[in-house]
Amino acid sequence: MCAQYCISFADVEKAHINIRDFVHLTPVLTSSILNQVAGRNLFFKCELFQKTGSFKVRGALNAIRGLIPAPSGKPKAVVTHSSGNHGQALAYAAKLEGIPAYIVVPQTAPNCKKLAIQAYGASIVYSEQSDESRENVTKRIMEETEGIMVHPNQEPAVMAGQGTIAMEVLNQVPLVDALVVPVGGGGMVAGIAITVKALRPSVKVYAAEPLNADDCYQSKLKGELTPNPYPPETIADGVKSSIGLNTWPVIRDLVDDVFTVTEEEIKVRLQQERKWSNFLDKRYFLQVATHPLGT
Ligand SMILES: Cc1ncc(COP(=O)(O)O)c(C=O)c1O
Repeated sequence: MCAQYCISFADVEKAHINIRDFVHLTPVLTSSILNQVAGRNLFFKCELFQKTGSFKVRGALNAIRGLIPAPSGKPKAVVTHSSGNHGQALAYAAKLEGIPAYIVVPQTAPNCKKLAIQAYGASIVYSEQSDESRENVTKRIMEETEGIMVHPNQEPAVMAGQGTIAMEVLNQVPLVDALVVPVGGGGMVAGIAITVKALRPSVKVYAAEPLNADDCYQSKLKGELTPNPYPPETIADGVKSSIGLNTWPVIRDLVDDVFTVTEEEIKVRLQQERKWSNFLDKRYFLQVATHPLGT
């Protein structure tokens, strides 16, 4: 497995050792109402309770901690492009290690995201909305700061860090027989698939994505990497990115299938969650815990 893919299970085990003292063991929650609706036992791995509010901190921390033992010493800076969870996670991880972080975000990014990145002590650098501008600005900042790029989903250390979610899930729910993982760039589902197929190969790993951003589904269908042809429009803005060169081979071989959901299905689900949560007077728990596609 190691030779074929850019990470192996050994990398995930190392990531676990690298990050375990700095991340929460997030809870797995259940809902009897949702079990009834689905006709099976559902478990929600609540990474929204993770440091910085998302699983992204696992990959960011593993990448940063992997850079520290370099013979040349600490990197002068780390750089990434992400207006979302990875930007905040990298800012947090870099601060822990005392490394300056530069996060390239489009000018149009929501204020709350920019503020969160700044609150973790990183510097924001603006780009235009296009991929070309984002890449040019990122390159310029890397040159100016002599910084190292930590890609949100194609960086192997990030993928390995996200795989630690599966190590926890397999311990927390020993009888689990399938994992459904939201997919954007595929760092999370690739790390999880590597781990699950190494530790418990009979357990299925499914990817889930909006129909409007169905590059993972299309890639599996065609048997070749097929990025979204244009920027997708979906309310699930955390999963707009396309899978890439590093995550595709893992997804191709180890992810059992891909589910797509329409915007209406995403919205109806949110409405139903609200209805159930009002009914149960546990609004916060249900709404957030069953909300893996949000940012
Ligand atoms: C909340 C959330 N879920 C899922 C994803 C998708 O992760 P990946 O890009 O590793 O597939 C992201 C990515 O930003 C995210 O923020």
